Order: sequence, then C-alpha cells, then structure tokens
Amino acid sequence: MSFAVFKSIGAYVPEKVLTNAELEKIVDTSDEWIIKRTGISERRIAANNELTSDLALKASLQAIERAKISKEDIDLVVFATITPDFLCMPSTACILADKLGIKDVAAFDISAACSGFIYGLTIAKAFIESGMKKNVLVIGAETLSKIVDYTDRATCVLFGDGAGAAVISASDDKSNAIIDTHISADGGYSDFLVTPLPLTSNALDKEKNCFIQMKGNETFKLAVKTLSNDCINMLAKNKLDSSNIDYFIPHQANYRIIKAVGESVGIEDDKVVLTVAKYGNTSAASIPMAINDMYERGALKKGHLMLLDAFGGGLTWGSCLAYFDGE
Ligand code: ACO
Repeated sequence: MSFAVFKSIGAYVPEKVLTNAELEKIVDTSDEWIIKRTGISERRIAANNELTSDLALKASLQAIERAKISKEDIDLVVFATITPDFLCMPSTACILADKLGIKDVAAFDISAACSGFIYGLTIAKAFIESGMKKNVLVIGAETLSKIVDYTDRATCVLFGDGAGAAVISASDDKSNAIIDTHISADGGYSDFLVTPLPLTSNALDKEKNCFIQMKGNETFKLAVKTLSNDCINMLAKNKLDSSNIDYFIPHQANYRIIKAVGESVGIEDDKVVLTVAKYGNTSAASIPMAINDMYERGALKKGHLMLLDAFGGGLTWGSCLAYFDGE
C-alpha cells in the first residue's frame, strides 16, 4: 500500500503591506481595536495585475524544488481558493499547471474557503493511498483583497493575500505519513460568510454583492466550538493526546479563536503557531503559509507531528494529523 507523506512546503506573499494605521485612514477603526479583537497588525495586498495563480506559481515552484522532484513528476494539481483568476472557468488549477509548464496533468479547483487546504490534503491522501497518483501539488492561495469591501470595517481589517503550496508524495514507509484527516460542512450556515452575488444573468450591476459579508460574532462562537471538538476527536480517534503534538498549526483567522481552541484542546502555548499578526486571514493560504513560516525559521523538521485545523465559509471545517517529511 502507498502512504501519503507531506514532502515539502513553499509560500509567497505580495510585497505591498497594508498596516492597521493605513486602515485607520480608510474606515472608522483603530490599531488598538484590531489588535485586541483579532491579533492582526498588518496584511499583504496583491497588485492590481497580480492574480491568485501568480502568487501560487511562486509558492509552487518553491515547494517542487524543496521536494527534490521535477515539475513533470506532479500528476495531480489540487487548488484551494475562493478567489480564482476567473469567475467560472477555466479553473485556477489549469492556469497554474500551464504557468508551471506541466502538460497532460489532472488539475481542478476546490471551493471550501478557509478549510480548502485541509480539503486539498484529504483529496491528495485519498488519491495517493488508492494508488492513482504519486505526487500531488496542493495549493491554498488567495487574493482576498479583490473581494473585500474597503468601506466595511467589520471585514476589511481581517483579510489579506498570499499563497502556500505543498507536495504530497507516495511512500512505502508509514512512519512519517499523514496519519489522518477529517473534513466536514454544514450548508445550513451558508449565510454566515458569503459573497451574495447569485449567478444570474442580470446580477452584475449589484457590485457590492461581490464582496465578503460575514456574521462575525456568530462565526467566532461556532468556530471555537467546532474546532475544539474536531481537534479533540481527531486526537482521540488516533489514540494521541496534545503532548504528542509538536506544532498546532490552525487557520489564522483570529488570535482569540486560536487561543481558545488551543486551550480547550490542552495544547501548550509554545506549540501554537501564530502568523495572523503579519498576514491577517488569508483563507485557504493561511495554513500552508504558517507551515512555511515554521520551516523557514528552521523550527519545523522532518518527523515533527503537526495538528492542522481550519474553519470557514460554507460553513466548512477540517483537521489533519501529519508528520512533516521534508528535508
Ligand atoms: N473597528 C472598530 N470597531 C469595530 C470594527 C473595527 N474594525 N469592526 C467591528 N467593530 C465594532 C462593531 O460595530 C461592534 O460595535 P457595537 O458593539 O457598537 O455594535 C463591536 O465592534 C463588536 O463587534 P463584534 O462583531 O461583536 O466583534 P467581535 O468581538 O465578534 O470581533 C471579529 C469581530 C473579529 C470579526 C470576530 O467576530 C471574528 O474573528 N469572527 C470569526 C472570523 C472567522 O473565523 N471567519 C472564518 C474564516 S473566514 C473565511 O472562511 C473566508
């Protein structure tokens, strides 16, 4: 049997930094409020002509190089994003595969908002364990600034742009593999996080409906409860406890959510990975960007056990227990 191993990580963020002080000039907010309620100090913003696939390309090239494989070894591209290059088609996965110069490869997008990367890992694991694929490129990348309403203080302070990519490869060795993933959704809460423009022929004049709207406080409470239960169940199912985890790398939406989940799962503070202060909420990109942050700081080594979790629009959520198998 083939096992799926987390072979490498890469990430890229746009150059432009948007600080809390700059947001103070745009909407009625303050650096103090944003830091106290979210933990965010700044976020990155893509240039007008910089598309999600452009950010993803840089992250992917880095991940492929670090996996010590060639682009041609990739046999599946799974692209998690809610900010695709084009509204309906082609998929951003197809655009990325072309930009990478990979021909004749399976490529598709998945839409699971902030949980997208964990959905992508789950798909990669299933394809590899079934023997159908050998090297899956999983991307989480977003240019959320293009769907943020910069007159809405309740959302515009939260989101940023960025990309992360991982190579998940087949291995005969179970000891360093992705142990388990769990993904779920409840469309009954679809109005909690929404870009409410329906795809009808006459809707394009309703510009505001292209932007993110969020029931922030309700989402916050449900996120803490759902993620805590999901992580506790994931550990129990695999007969592990929080002391076995080297790093807890959650979706970076809000420092308070991360802290509350970490506490209820019993994870020590020094194992909790935080990048929300410098990047804000980058949806599907946030987990691979945070993994990359740890990797580039030299803190994440081969054999470290990661607990990942995410919660986002849909509503969707998921968790993953995986060893890092990169060099
Ligand atoms: N600056 C100043 N005041 C603000 C701001 C701001 N930027 N935004 C909201 N406020 C005000 C509100 O108007 C409100 O004022 P009022 O009491 O006079 O009505 C007050 O602050 C409190 O507002 P709440 O929304 O209750 O604040 P809360 O403590 O819940 O924090 C936040 C808001 C940060 C959005 C939080 O609810 C949150 O993080 N929610 C979850 C986000 C999340 O996890 N999303 C899922 C992933 S995203 C994805 O999938 C794309």
